[in-house]
Formats: sequence, C-alpha cells, structure tokens
Amino acid sequence: MITRTATYLFACTEWIEDAFNGKEPLHDIYSRLLNPTSISLANHMVDLEAGSRANEYLAWNFNSGMAAIDGLLSHLLGHEDIVLASRNIYGGSYQLLEDWFGKPSNLNIAVEWVDGYSGGEFAARLDEVAEKYADRLAAGKKIYVYLESPCNPHGYVLDVANISKAAHLRGWDIIVDSTVGTPLLHPVLKRDDVMERPDFVIHSYTKELAGSGTTTAGVVIGRNETMFVPKGEEVTFSKPNGDEVTIPWNETLLLERVLH
Ligand SMILES: Cc1ncc(COP(=O)(O)O)c(C=O)c1O
Repeated sequence: MITRTATYLFACTEWIEDAFNGKEPLHDIYSRLLNPTSISLANHMVDLEAGSRANEYLAWNFNSGMAAIDGLLSHLLGHEDIVLASRNIYGGSYQLLEDWFGKPSNLNIAVEWVDGYSGGEFAARLDEVAEKYADRLAAGKKIYVYLESPCNPHGYVLDVANISKAAHLRGWDIIVDSTVGTPLLHPVLKRDDVMERPDFVIHSYTKELAGSGTTTAGVVIGRNETMFVPKGEEVTFSKPNGDEVTIPWNETLLLERVLH
C-alpha cells in the first residue's frame, strides 16, 4: 500500500479529536506522524520479528536507520545514564554515543565498551561498570546495553539471547541493532523465554531489508507498552525479570517517533 499524501480527510470529528489528543495511535493526521504506508510496513516488521507473538509488539518507522537509533537513545537515555556498548558497532553509532551522548555539555552519558560476544563477557563487564558507576546508580541512573549483531563491517554474531538474559537479570534494558542479519536470518525476538529477548530491536531498512539501494529508512520494534500509551494514561506491566513498572504515556517511544 502506498499513500502519497501529507495530510488527510477525516471520517468524523471524533476521529480528529482522538488523534489530536493523542488517544489513538492509528488515526492519520499528518504524514510525518503516521501514514497507512508506514503502518503497514511497521506491521510487517512486527510479524517478521515477533511471529506468533506479534500481538505483544509494535514498531515505529523512522526516516533512516540513524534516526531510529538516535530516536530510541534520545528517548531512553537520561542525564548521566550509562551505556555499555559492544565494541563492534558501526561507525555512525559509535560517534553518536561517544561524541554526542557522551559529551559533558549534552547528556554526559558514561559510554563503556565490551570486547566480547557472549553472555558471560557482557555479564562480567556489566558488574564492573555497575561498580565503577556506583555513585550514578545510587542516584537512580540506569545502565543500557547496546549492541549490533551481526555487526557491520566484521559480521561477528553475538549471543543475543544470553546477553539479554545477563542484562535483564540485573534489571537493565538491552537494544539490538539487527540490521545486517534481518529478522529472517537473525530472529532475536523469537525466543520463548522473555528474558532472552532484547527490549528493542532496530533495523536500517536502507541495507539488506530494502536490498536495492533505493530507500533510506529505519525502524524500532519494542513491546507494546514501551511504544504507545494513550495521552494522559499509564500502564503497569512486568519487565522481563518480573519487576513491576508503571509507564506514563510520555515515557513511550511514540514521542520520539513524532519528532523524526
Ligand atoms: C548496522 C547499521 N545500523 C544502522 C545504520 C544506519 O542506517 P541508515 O544509513 O539507514 O541511517 C547503518 C548504516 O551503515 C548500519 O550499518
């Protein structure tokens, strides 16, 4: 389905009210926010990534892979949080983390690196990093794990399931850029154990998914409750490790998606 428009006609005034009040995620009001082409592509991505659990996940498209990565990190990271990233991520993500998010006059994120590929190596680094930044953690700052698998350009495949488990056991979220593998060859969400599934999966459509070099676009896939909550409302749910958290509407990725 291809819908070439920037604005829309509305079926009724109630739709307009719901859409403008942020109550309804699927009513189109302006093409940067949403359009039927984007919704159908995002839904396909959820089907491919999550398969039989597609009802638990939602995807938002972005105008490039970098916009997806930037949008997600901008959304998640707070001042002086900590990112533990795989050494094997591509140059654009490295620069975004190190030069932008790590900049003291920006969010002053502590960016730390892991050279390994296994759950054990990430677990050990997570514990080191937690010790190093004990003061930040005591002040309520969070650790996020960020990795690429298979990575660009070396193609190393990381043990995403066990790395996710190591992060979740410690209460941290994990983000995986799965661009190079695509959901077909690298189905990181198709795990029965929720502890083994990353919280967010990113793709740059620009590469293997589009395949033809004619498109620049990106996507983030995450659990429903982290992607959209109607404006003014909140949801309480269990994190993979069983901890209960409440997310208000303005802590979902919807806000960043609107901006990109
Ligand atoms: C693994 C990976 N993720 C994300 C991106 C960024 O995607 P885009 O070029 O669509 O912004 C790239 C680009 O080279 C990449 O290789």
